Amino acid sequence: MAVALSKNIRILSDAEAVAKTAARIFSSAASVAVGSRSSFSVALSGGSTPTLLYRILGSSFQDVISWQHVHLFWTDERCVPADHKQSNFRIVNEELLSHIDMPNGNIHRIKGELAPDEGAGTYETELRGHFGREGLPRFNVIFLGIGEDGHTASLFPGSEALGEEQRLAVPAYSMEASSWRVTLTLPVLNNAGLVVFLVTGSNKAEIMAKLFSKEDRSSYPAGLVNPLNGRVIWLIDKDAASGLDSAGQ
Ligand code: 6PG
Repeated sequence: MAVALSKNIRILSDAEAVAKTAARIFSSAASVAVGSRSSFSVALSGGSTPTLLYRILGSSFQDVISWQHVHLFWTDERCVPADHKQSNFRIVNEELLSHIDMPNGNIHRIKGELAPDEGAGTYETELRGHFGREGLPRFNVIFLGIGEDGHTASLFPGSEALGEEQRLAVPAYSMEASSWRVTLTLPVLNNAGLVVFLVTGSNKAEIMAKLFSKEDRSSYPAGLVNPLNGRVIWLIDKDAASGLDSAGQ
């Protein structure tokens, strides 16, 4: 397992290197998907880490990526209006969408302004509308982060949402933030072609060491992300990797 982990772990110098590598992965995956299937479906996560990725995509990849063939989704959203400072959509809108020419129909945001249950139901309808009524959505790429408690998207340790096997999106309560969110469920995350984790900063060193140590990874939601027919790549900066040995464990 260690070998597999180290194969999928890229330890990079700093947050900028992580974001630039992620942008290159986004761009090359988009060109492969667009070339073969004429659309590229990607889910973006929130939090602070991916902000630099969105800024780079919006500034250096405006003309590199065929944005009219890209469909943007979110891994999760806070139950706030789209212009709220906590909104994951707002970050992407300011850093990326304001700088590229993307059809509105390609932007599939989670409607955080709705009540959690309604927001989750509406997002499920949006997912079904794009990916089809049956089976699980298969994203080309899903970008994720990890919290210091090992959560990812808005799948928090011990939450009911972790056991959801039918619904594609569910409400989730963040104890830390005392606020509601809507999140994709594990079956959707684990049906992706590629999951890319972006992890930076010394505050993530402890959770990364725990996640890649010998102890049971399944005690952390991020440790449950392992696509059945897909790959996981971890892009980690040196600060976040300071607790890992050279074999990535
Ligand atoms: C969110 C994210 C969440 C995030 C982690 C890490 O909506 O907050 O989806 O899962 O990736 O909490 O957040 P930071 O990047 O801010 O450390």
